[in-house]
Amino acid sequence: MAVTESETQAAAASPEPKPAKMRGRGVCVYYGDKQALFDVDIDVVEKQVTSLIGPSGCGKSTFLRCLNRMNDVIDTCSVTGSITLDTGDIYDKSVDVVQLRARVGMVFQKPNPFPKSIFENVAYGPRIHGLAKDKTDLDRIVESSLRRASIWEEVKDRLDQPGTGLSGGQQQRLCIARAIAVEPEVILMDEPCSALDPIATAKIEELIHELRENFTIAIVTHSMQQAARVSQKTAFFHLGNLIEYGETEELFTNPKHEKTQGYITGRFG
Ligand SMILES: Nc1ncnc2c1ncn2[C@@H]1O[C@H](COP(=O)(O)OP(=O)(O)OP(=O)(O)O)[C@@H](O)[C@H]1O
Ligand SMILES: [Mg+2]
Repeated sequence: MAVTESETQAAAASPEPKPAKMRGRGVCVYYGDKQALFDVDIDVVEKQVTSLIGPSGCGKSTFLRCLNRMNDVIDTCSVTGSITLDTGDIYDKSVDVVQLRARVGMVFQKPNPFPKSIFENVAYGPRIHGLAKDKTDLDRIVESSLRRASIWEEVKDRLDQPGTGLSGGQQQRLCIARAIAVEPEVILMDEPCSALDPIATAKIEELIHELRENFTIAIVTHSMQQAARVSQKTAFFHLGNLIEYGETEELFTNPKHEKTQGYITGRFG
């Protein structure tokens, strides 16, 4: 049977859905006996940006930290349910957490360069993971990471100076360069722009847009505009529950849940 033009167009307009790079199912998190997340199911889709939004204290950072087991460092914190990276359970006892965090990197709210030179900030990860063959190779990794983080031109003449001497926005891009230097598959960002001015914020957003070509990204943000600009999927949390998860455009223009509607129109939060 002949395929009509409209069928061809429909097929082109709805390509195969991208697979989930990370998948959380029935995730519950407790701090001591206080439950912070209730039965959360989320897919972090490969080579897309997923934003996590919701009022303060709803569990966004808690969920993000589950994705590379950063909650492990909090004594009282326990996590149940399942979280997979590709098909492997990241909470399996055979998982090496250092390796996991190389695959799932993190950028924090407050830029936190090491008290070392710009070069050393980026070289540190590749060196401990043995990613560079020799000094020339390490130089190449540092340069390409700084380029991919859109900060090379601003720092190339002062690589030996302290990372802490850069502006806040530059420090955040340096931290992104540090995160990507170990070739992670997923990058987690917890309010990466909240300490930045609008120009530095625009640079990071542009960078996120470019990074999506090669990396899977999950970002926590308090800015609905930012979520709408940078992400393809959005998850809305409220009081530890995932209320709604879906295509960003759909969630902002046609939310299914009245709590989502209330939050995105500024009625609470
Ligand atoms: N280290 C901790 N110890 C005990 N309780 C914690 C800890 N971290 C978070 N919580 C609690 O877990 C809940 C969720 O906190 P979380 O930091 O994930 O919220 P959030 O959505 O990231 O908020 P914000 O937008 O303010 O950053 C809150 O009730 C918080 O008090
Ligand atoms: Mg938070």
